Amino acid sequence: MNAITLLQPPRIVFGNGCALQSAEFLAQRGVKRVLLVTSKSVRRQINFLVEALQKARCEVVETRFVPPEPTLNFFESALKEAQAEKIDSVLAIGGGSVIDVAKLLAALVHGKQNVAEIFGINLLQSRALPLVCLPTTAGTGAEVSPNAILLDEADELKKGVVSPHLVPDAAFVDPLLTLSVPPAVTAATGLDALTHCIEAYANKFAHPIVDNYALQGVKLISQNLLRAVRNGADTEARAALALGSLYGGLCLGPVNTAAVHALAYPLGGKFHIAHGVSNALLLPHVLRFNFSAAPGRYAEISTALGVQRNGSDLTTAEHGVQFLSQLSRNCGVPQKLSDLNIPRDAIPAMAKAAMQVTRLLKNNLRPLTEADAAQIYESAY
Ligand SMILES: NC(=O)c1ccc[n+]([C@@H]2O[C@H](COP(=O)([O-])OP(=O)(O)OC[C@H]3O[C@@H](n4cnc5c(N)ncnc54)[C@H](O)[C@@H]3O)[C@@H](O)[C@H]2O)c1
Ligand SMILES: [Fe+2]
Repeated sequence: MNAITLLQPPRIVFGNGCALQSAEFLAQRGVKRVLLVTSKSVRRQINFLVEALQKARCEVVETRFVPPEPTLNFFESALKEAQAEKIDSVLAIGGGSVIDVAKLLAALVHGKQNVAEIFGINLLQSRALPLVCLPTTAGTGAEVSPNAILLDEADELKKGVVSPHLVPDAAFVDPLLTLSVPPAVTAATGLDALTHCIEAYANKFAHPIVDNYALQGVKLISQNLLRAVRNGADTEARAALALGSLYGGLCLGPVNTAAVHALAYPLGGKFHIAHGVSNALLLPHVLRFNFSAAPGRYAEISTALGVQRNGSDLTTAEHGVQFLSQLSRNCGVPQKLSDLNIPRDAIPAMAKAAMQVTRLLKNNLRPLTEADAAQIYESAY
């Protein structure tokens, strides 16, 4: 069995109402001036937390609201503003976009390195400040992962920083924070989380420890996503999705994703398609490309999705992909690149850009060439 290292936040708190405990946690750590990183739609529902921090004599300094799929430029202005404040910690409350910005702010606020020089694996030397994360989508799992992603508009690429220093000090996963997520965002973020689990289970570096998280995540998300999309107030479904997303996040550090995510990045980078939508759209096509490399693994994913084993591994794997397409369609997620107004003649450039995401392509079970990538985009068109 191959060796594996699990780097997780030393404190992971999960459960309805646990958000408030993050204020106690920060206060107990002696934090006096915390930088709150959040987004507009989330800010209005977290007054209770800001008040609890102030009551505990912790000043709250707020950044400008983080937009979806944040850019390098946005990050750099937020960093300048943060450097002008005397903050001693960072608190992220939001989706992956918010958490990623907060992670990089906490890492770089001391000015020892700049963001451009840390894109890649293990290039960040240290993190300047303590970091606590509360996810409000289910989701990226960014609250427990060592990753952060920004959109480099000049290069039209989403770029990732991967470092153990980006693993937060604490994650408080409160499913109640996700009740307000609109149906389309619930669908896209849930399918992203499902993709994390699937790509970690069918991965060149898959590992029995991570397989547990991955298969459990596949079950939880596939059984509950449609319920939460149809009724956002369904607390049971929301809790199951929050747990599935957390499991997906726990897969990201030790194993990470593969070709679905690699091919999704150019859709985000060039056409600003939301991360979850890009993944959901490409998922069936990349899985079919990969089947032959490990039919048994894909058949097991199918059974975790709730599909009956029927015939060979390959047939069962195909039934799993049909289930995924139907789930995504039922959730109202676009199914084709042409639905997103992406011109067909953009495919060669997208295939070229995807090949640059070597940090994920190296994990893919079946080696993938630029021509294969173009063929996959064609099949998704
Ligand atoms: N760091 C990682 O490990 C990791 C993993 C996967 C993806 N990502 C990155 O995360 C980003 C996507 O994050 P996301 O999918 O969570 O979406 P997001 O953070 O972009 O949020 C999507 C939208 O939902 C809103 N929203 C969030 N929570 C809400 C709530 N509770 N109620 C109402 N509205 C809410 C946001 O303001 C935003 O408008 C992408 O940039 C992606 O590349 C990071
Ligand atoms: Fe993702």
